[in-house]
Amino acid sequence: MEDIVIHNAMGVCSAEEDTRILARVCAEEAPAGGRVLDVGTGTGYVAIYLAKRGLEVEATDVSERALQVAGANIQRNQVPVRLYRSDLFQAVRGEFDVIAFNPPMNPRETELTRWVTSFLRRHRRTADLLMRAFDRWLQGSRMGFLMGFMEQAQGHLRPGGCVVLEATRAELDALEKGLSSWQICRRVDIPSLPAEQIAVFRPSGERDV
Ligand SMILES: C[S@@+](CC[C@H](N)C(=O)[O-])C[C@H]1O[C@@H](n2cnc3c(N)ncnc32)[C@H](O)[C@@H]1O
Repeated sequence: MEDIVIHNAMGVCSAEEDTRILARVCAEEAPAGGRVLDVGTGTGYVAIYLAKRGLEVEATDVSERALQVAGANIQRNQVPVRLYRSDLFQAVRGEFDVIAFNPPMNPRETELTRWVTSFLRRHRRTADLLMRAFDRWLQGSRMGFLMGFMEQAQGHLRPGGCVVLEATRAELDALEKGLSSWQICRRVDIPSLPAEQIAVFRPSGERDV
């Protein structure tokens, strides 16, 4: 993992290929020295990657265990990241140039189900098969959560800013259709997770920069 040292831990989503692509896309979209919010930071990889590139980074998670693991990784890499607990934007203040989110498979996660999903993230083929099998169910259960996230994100975006979101292709299509105030400017494939993509959303009417 290039110049970043990450310790993964059971119960916390491990940093995988999608995490690395998410970090790279955020770095490509952020202006030099810009402000980035990493929602649901997990191990802290995205936040650390961006802080190492001179961006001003805040990272949040709803899970205390994830915050402990991210905090230790941030210390290990000696980067300035403001890390705090927040359920989506509940404790977030201010505006950002980029807001990143790789959402949980199940928005109603408990510390117990996080152990299961952290296990699945290490077994990509099984995870991809499950994502495909439960696509219809996931769409139903995650769509409201993702719509809520996008609505709240709008209030925390600087002019010209964007949201970088990982979701299934079907969810991204449904979000694009259902959210008239947003447009997807870019979609990036994840080779190890063919059912998912990373999308760059900008408020409708703004050109990709
Ligand atoms: C799929 S993992 C992604 C972790 C990391 N960003 C990555 O890409 O590897 C989802 C993360 O979101 C966190 N999370 C779940 N629900 C959340 C919420 N309502 N607010 C903030 N974080 C949340 C989980 O604890 C978990 O760390």
